[in-house]
Amino acid sequence: MLWECRGDRGLRGSFSAPGDKSISHRALLLNALARGEAEIRGANPGADVQSTARCLRALGIAIESTAPGSFGLRGRGLQWRPATDRLDCGNSGTTVRLLAGILAGQSFTSTLDGDDSLRGRPMSRISRPLRAFGARVEGPDNGAHLPLIVTGPLRRGGVHLSEVASAQVKSALLLAALVSGQVLRVEEPSPSRNHTENLLTAMGAAVDFGPGWAEIRPSGELRAQNLAVPADPSAAAFPLAAALLLPGSEVVARRMLKNPTRWGFFDVLEGMGVVLEIGAESDRVGERVVDLGVRWTPELRAIEVKSSQVASMVDEIPLLAVLAAFAQGTSVFEGVAELRVKESDRVAGICELLEAWSIHHQVEGEVLSVVGGAPQLRTSPPVFEDHRMAMASAVLAMGAHARGPETAAVIVDLSAASISDPNFCRHFEGLRDGS
Ligand code: S3P
Repeated sequence: MLWECRGDRGLRGSFSAPGDKSISHRALLLNALARGEAEIRGANPGADVQSTARCLRALGIAIESTAPGSFGLRGRGLQWRPATDRLDCGNSGTTVRLLAGILAGQSFTSTLDGDDSLRGRPMSRISRPLRAFGARVEGPDNGAHLPLIVTGPLRRGGVHLSEVASAQVKSALLLAALVSGQVLRVEEPSPSRNHTENLLTAMGAAVDFGPGWAEIRPSGELRAQNLAVPADPSAAAFPLAAALLLPGSEVVARRMLKNPTRWGFFDVLEGMGVVLEIGAESDRVGERVVDLGVRWTPELRAIEVKSSQVASMVDEIPLLAVLAAFAQGTSVFEGVAELRVKESDRVAGICELLEAWSIHHQVEGEVLSVVGGAPQLRTSPPVFEDHRMAMASAVLAMGAHARGPETAAVIVDLSAASISDPNFCRHFEGLRDGS
């Protein structure tokens, strides 16, 4: 889908970002493991969450979807039945890694696969520890890539010291242990998102956790849990970032998830000189929700992101690199290695995007530097198949058009946005009209 990225008018009003993608996957997967019926409203309507629903149906879980983002499902409890075919996880890393964990707890064999992007992503980070705890995991390059053939259950528990701060790895292990009835602890180099732990707690599992660690003990059946999914801060980030760049903008993201393990982007914005207007907090099944507003901020300061902060903003770094392109001074992002193994190599993607817009930048080892300036399009913008890269590219084009509204607006291919936000362009069109 091609979209003209205009910046000649400010964005005004409020919008609802789609339901949080991480929580939507977990709402489906954990309710499928519970006993009883659950209703999930406001789930993310993108293709990734559909991949989770599709795999669960293939595993015999009864799931109805009455409208995009609304699901009714009946859990089967902790023990499932095998699917008849390989499970297609599409483009979704969260689907494949969390499901691999659950299936490593089952006493049957399953095959997990995905699209070309997912087939290129590292799976050793789950296959090695699952094997160490006694599951059988086979696949190309000794289980480093899809398709993975997984046979459970785990034969023992223990402690996994993770080399990466990854909620997908942590969740896979916690779920494998839950289903296998083992005691298992995961420790990570810095805190990753804790939505699995929050939802497991609400559903009655015996799980303890804190920043950088989580431990699960056998706890019997999970209680089904109805859920209204909070809006996704990783999706809300795009219109909010555009509002910072477009003169006259004043935008509020409604009912957005506020969780410290996901707040890195907003901490960095404050470091850039952005004033966040945060409304009253309310509770939604173990998570906090707020309205958050920002305004046009004509002078953004450069920022420094440390490796230990990366997990709290891992999906937002392409967008932060775009903001850094408009900031005063050189921004530095340390510890960006994980970005190379996302839906695409996002370090390479950021460089390609900044190159196309004549923004000086450098990558040295795991450190990315971006020199703020006045983005000028050299060639046509790159086409990204990675949703977050495509959306970041659109924000860059809008910001550049705001600085030269007499020039033609750039057209960006936003087909990939349907992975996480099929209404991406509609949010902007509504806000341009001031709704
Ligand atoms: C996610 C965790 C993160 C994030 C991804 C969603 C999750 O991945 O990048 O978009 O829902 O657990 P990693 O666990 O690989 O860091």
